[in-house]
Amino acid sequence: MEFKNWMDEKVSKIDENLSTIISEEENPQKVIYESMNYSLLSGGKRLRPVLLLGTYEIFQENIEDVIPFACSMEMIHTYSLIHDDLPAMDNDDYRRGRLSNHKKFGEATGILAGDGLLNKAFETGLEAALESKLDINKSVKALCAIAKSSGADGMIGGQIVDMYGHEKISSIDDLKYMYSLKTGAIIKSSVVAGAILGGANDAEIAALELYAEKLGIGFQIEDDILDVTSTQEVLGKAIGSDAANDKITYLSFVNIDEAKEHVEKFTQEAIESLSIFGDKAKYMIELARYLTNRDH
Ligand code: IPE
Ligand code: IPE
Ligand code: MG
Ligand code: MG
Ligand code: MG
Repeated sequence: MEFKNWMDEKVSKIDENLSTIISEEENPQKVIYESMNYSLLSGGKRLRPVLLLGTYEIFQENIEDVIPFACSMEMIHTYSLIHDDLPAMDNDDYRRGRLSNHKKFGEATGILAGDGLLNKAFETGLEAALESKLDINKSVKALCAIAKSSGADGMIGGQIVDMYGHEKISSIDDLKYMYSLKTGAIIKSSVVAGAILGGANDAEIAALELYAEKLGIGFQIEDDILDVTSTQEVLGKAIGSDAANDKITYLSFVNIDEAKEHVEKFTQEAIESLSIFGDKAKYMIELARYLTNRDH
């Protein structure tokens, strides 16, 4: 199968499942369901769930049992985007080609929709752990990795360092540390959760962790580049947001051409770390290449 078809198939499956998770009940809190679905069902590359499914597929054929875990990753990611766009954070009005959540529903609803998605992510994962045929120990281990990566030792930790960048980031190594958390942590836990659920051994998990670490850093550098070189139409979010917020980004340390070379280098290292899997990792290799060359 061509990579593009493989990716499209995964994204459709994820979209289909995400659309069944939050039902818009006729009750006094109906607007929270609408607000959660507004952001969750507005497209996006679905990278994190695809990473979870793609990793699981290195080890197992049938991905059906792990789809809820993949959906959990997308709910955590979407929540992080809603909060990231708030006036108190990056103050961005557009996301995924439409008004950002707080612009559409107001700040209070946006904050609560993010909180609602975070809780729904773990409810979905825990229900799958209880109900599916998967080994419960593996499921709980995967959910622990996901929980840790989303919190203060992971994504939230990175977001706070990003917010105080001028005090906390004075070298490219400081910046890479911040990226490994704000962006890298849930990219890595998507891969690690897929590996744990799939039954990977320690050496296999270590190789996949390295792949995800390199991929995560490269992904955020590319995001920084696109904030300067793309257009709102293509990107689906406002460009120039980093400059408007006086953020420290990769481009504070190197120029665009150098940044692109670094993305290329991290991608190459990500790909090399999959060598132990041979042909079984071919789609994960293609996925790394696709991300390097993405336009949004
Ligand atoms: C945006 O993530 C936030 C970053 C971590 C750079 P994505 O680029 O994966 O956003 P969507 O999900 O495709 O909208
Ligand atoms: C956000 O990084 C990472 C998150 C944890 C949401 P950015 O602030 O650069 O992401 P965009 O550019 O708004 O998507
Ligand atoms: Mg941000
Ligand atoms: Mg932002
Ligand atoms: Mg950005």
